[in-house]
Amino acid sequence: MPDLRFDGRVAVVTGAGAGLGRAYALLFASRGAKVVVNDLGVSRHGDGSSSNAADKVVDEIRRNGGTAVANYDSVVEGEKIIKTALDNFGKVDILINNAGILRDKSLVKMTDHDWDLIHAVHLKGSFKTSQAAFPVFKKQGYGRIIMTSSTAGLYGNFGQSNYSAAKMGLVGLSHTIAKEGGKYNIHCNVIVPTAASRLTEDILPPDLHFSATKVARKTVP
Ligand code: NAI
Repeated sequence: MPDLRFDGRVAVVTGAGAGLGRAYALLFASRGAKVVVNDLGVSRHGDGSSSNAADKVVDEIRRNGGTAVANYDSVVEGEKIIKTALDNFGKVDILINNAGILRDKSLVKMTDHDWDLIHAVHLKGSFKTSQAAFPVFKKQGYGRIIMTSSTAGLYGNFGQSNYSAAKMGLVGLSHTIAKEGGKYNIHCNVIVPTAASRLTEDILPPDLHFSATKVARKTVP
């Protein structure tokens, strides 16, 4: 079967400076898409910010002959990320809502700040980017949105009341966008990944991280 190609398409990938988002961005670019590499460059808990993460991935894509631009805004300001796509490439076709952080605490110890920050990044961030992209998708009669949920949302996980609630919220948001977008050829789907990344470095067994790194080096261009 031939590879799925994305020639002529513009893809926005949030949180594309590391982990899964980086892999998506590299793969989209290797298959012909022009890519907006968004990343705020934060720690796994959402602290700090840096342009390095996004810049490195953009460099990698360009070195491999692909086309990409960086965007350093938080997904909470999703309209700025979509504007980067429009300013540089004149359109957006595909939106991968992937950016994410963790602020794990048991229910009783959960603070309002940790609750709100997780909802802001995962749920509101995906809402803001999707809302900004939707009119563009509608006008061109084509749009694809991916939301990133988690097994923590579907089944629950100790210490992740904030994260699991936000991740399950994305399932509801996706269903509604799919209903509102269907007649305009705008599809919205949810994925529930599992990957060796810094988010899971103290959750998944070290062996898995080691072999995943070796596989990623071989398969990601
Ligand atoms: P990662 O920590 O390797 O990468 C996440 C990226 O998002 C980082 O580069 C970070 O700087 C960026 N980011 C964080 N907040 C941002 C914001 N406000 N605006 C823009 N960028 C921001 O994490 P990983 O593992 O690649 O996770 C990607 C997504 O997949 C997340 O939504 C995560 O919740 C989800 N997920 C991951 C699983 C796994 O097994 N790794 C399991 C289930 C879900």
